[in-house]
Amino acid sequence: MEKILIIDFGGQYNQLIARRVRECNVYCEVKPWTTPLDQLKAFNPIGIIFTGGPNSVYLDDSPQIDPDIFNWGVPILGICYGCQLMAHALGGQVTPAQDDSAREYGKTDTWYDTSCKLFQGLPAQGVSWMSHGDYMAKVPQGFALTARSDACPNVAIADESRGFYGVQFHPEVNHTRHGVDMIRNFLYEVCHAHGDWTMGDYKNTAIAQLREKIGSGKVLLALSGGVDSSVAAALLAEAVGSQLTCVFVDHGLMRLNEGDEVEEAFAQWDLNFVRVDGADRFLKRLAGVEEPEHKRKIIGEEFIRVFEEESKKIGAVDFLAQGTIYPDVIESGAGEAAVIKSHHNVGGLPDYVDFKEIVEPLRMLFKDEVRQLGRELGLPEYLVSRQPFPGPGLAIRIIGDITKEKADALRLADAIFQEEMARAGEDKCANQYFAVLTNTRSVGVMGDGRTYDYTLALRAVTTSDFMTADWARLPYDLLDRVSSRIVNEVRGINRIVYDITSKPPATIEWE
Ligand code: XMP
Repeated sequence: MEKILIIDFGGQYNQLIARRVRECNVYCEVKPWTTPLDQLKAFNPIGIIFTGGPNSVYLDDSPQIDPDIFNWGVPILGICYGCQLMAHALGGQVTPAQDDSAREYGKTDTWYDTSCKLFQGLPAQGVSWMSHGDYMAKVPQGFALTARSDACPNVAIADESRGFYGVQFHPEVNHTRHGVDMIRNFLYEVCHAHGDWTMGDYKNTAIAQLREKIGSGKVLLALSGGVDSSVAAALLAEAVGSQLTCVFVDHGLMRLNEGDEVEEAFAQWDLNFVRVDGADRFLKRLAGVEEPEHKRKIIGEEFIRVFEEESKKIGAVDFLAQGTIYPDVIESGAGEAAVIKSHHNVGGLPDYVDFKEIVEPLRMLFKDEVRQLGRELGLPEYLVSRQPFPGPGLAIRIIGDITKEKADALRLADAIFQEEMARAGEDKCANQYFAVLTNTRSVGVMGDGRTYDYTLALRAVTTSDFMTADWARLPYDLLDRVSSRIVNEVRGINRIVYDITSKPPATIEWE
C-alpha cells in the first residue's frame, strides 16, 4: 500500500490534512516531529507532508526536523510552519513580519503559477486561507516562487527538481479554494500515487489481519449501538464469527426500538449476541438523582458492573475489542483541556475484565471511513449513518430526576422528531438533533380542559467537530408539524420550545 507520512508540528488542522489525503484515496499516518528519522524511514512513505504549527522556526525551542530528511529523496510538501521550517533548514531566512501588512490571517486573494505541478490544472487566481505571522525574507537556493498575494511575493515556493514544495497557506481547509486539488496534485503528480486506499481493499486486509492475530481465541466486545462499536463488531464478526461475543447492555434509556434494531442488524452473522435488559436496575439506581455528572457516574459504574457479570458468564477471554478510532489516537497526546462534561462513554474499557490483549480494529480510521467500512460490511444505513448518541442516553436529556414514565414520553417525542426530520430531508443538514424533556411544567388547554404538563425542548445543531456548533435553521412548518404531533401523541407534554443557542456559550446536550 502506498503511504504518505504526515509530520505533526502541533498545528490545529493536522487531522484535517490526514483526512484530505485519505479522501484522495491515499493512505497516510500522522507522526510527531520527535519521531527519529530511522523510524520515519521504516514507514516507507512515497511522500511527506510537514504540518503547520504554532511556533516560529527561528526560536531555539521550536520543533525541528533532522536535516538529513532532505537527502532522503522523498518529495515533501510543507504547509505554513512546515513551509517555513523547510525554508529555514535549507538556507532560507524566516523572520517575524516587519509590518502588519506582511502578516496574513484569513481569506486572501492569491495568484498561482500553474506551470508548477502543485497548481497544475487550477485557475491562476483563487482564495487561500492564511494564518501566519512570520515571513520568508529569503527563499532557499534552488527554490522558485510559485504563488503570491498582495501582501506577500512568496506565498508558495518550489524546488521541483527535488520534489520540495512549500505553501504559507492551508490547502486542507475548505476556505482555500481548490485546496484539495493542490493536495491531490502533490499526491498524484509529484509523489506518483495510484490511489490504492479503498475501503473494499481495507476490509479484506483487516479481516485477514484479525484472523491471523486472533487465531482460535475468544473476543469480547461491548456493543453500544453507536457507529464505532457496531462497525468494529461487524468486522470482527466477519473475521472470526462465533469466536466473538457482543454484549449489548440496554440501560432503559435508549432511543425507541434501538435494542431491536441493533439485534436485528447483527442477526446476519454467526456470533454470540448477548442482550442484557438492565432497565430496572439502572432506573433504580438513578431514582431521585438530579445532578448530571452524578447521573453519568452512576450509569458508567452500573454499566461496568453488568458487563463484568456477563463476561464472568462467558469465562476468560483472550481479546477485549474496542471501537477506538483514529482521531482518539491522535488526540490522546493533546494537552489538558478543562472538563466541561465527563463524557463517560458507556462501553469504555473496564480494567478488571480478565483478558490478555486489546484489539482495536478501527484504530487507523477516520469517522467517515468507519461509516464507509460499515457499508462495505453490509450494516444497514440507519446504523452506519447514525448521529452521535451519548453513552448515558436519555438520562442526560431528562432534566432533573428520571422516571420510567418520563423516559417513555421522551423516547416517543424524540422518535416523532427524528421521523419528521427525515421526512423533510432535514436529517441531511443537521448533524445532531433530539428532544429534551425539561423539568418545567406549565398550564395548557386541551379540548375543554386545563393541563399542567411538561415542556419539551427540540434541539438541532450543525457542526463539523461537535466542539462548536450552531443551531439549525429548521423550517417553521417542520417545527410546527413536530410540535403538534408531539402534543397530540405524547401524554404529559403540552408545550414545545426550540433551542436557539449555539455552542459556545451553550453545549449541544442540555446536561
Ligand atoms: P456537548 O453537550 O458537550 O456534546 O456539547 C458534544 C458531543 O458529545 C456528546 N456527549 C456525550 N457522549 N457520553 C458520550 O458518549 C457523554 O456523557 C456525552 N455528553 C455529550 C453529545 O451528544 C455531542 O455529540
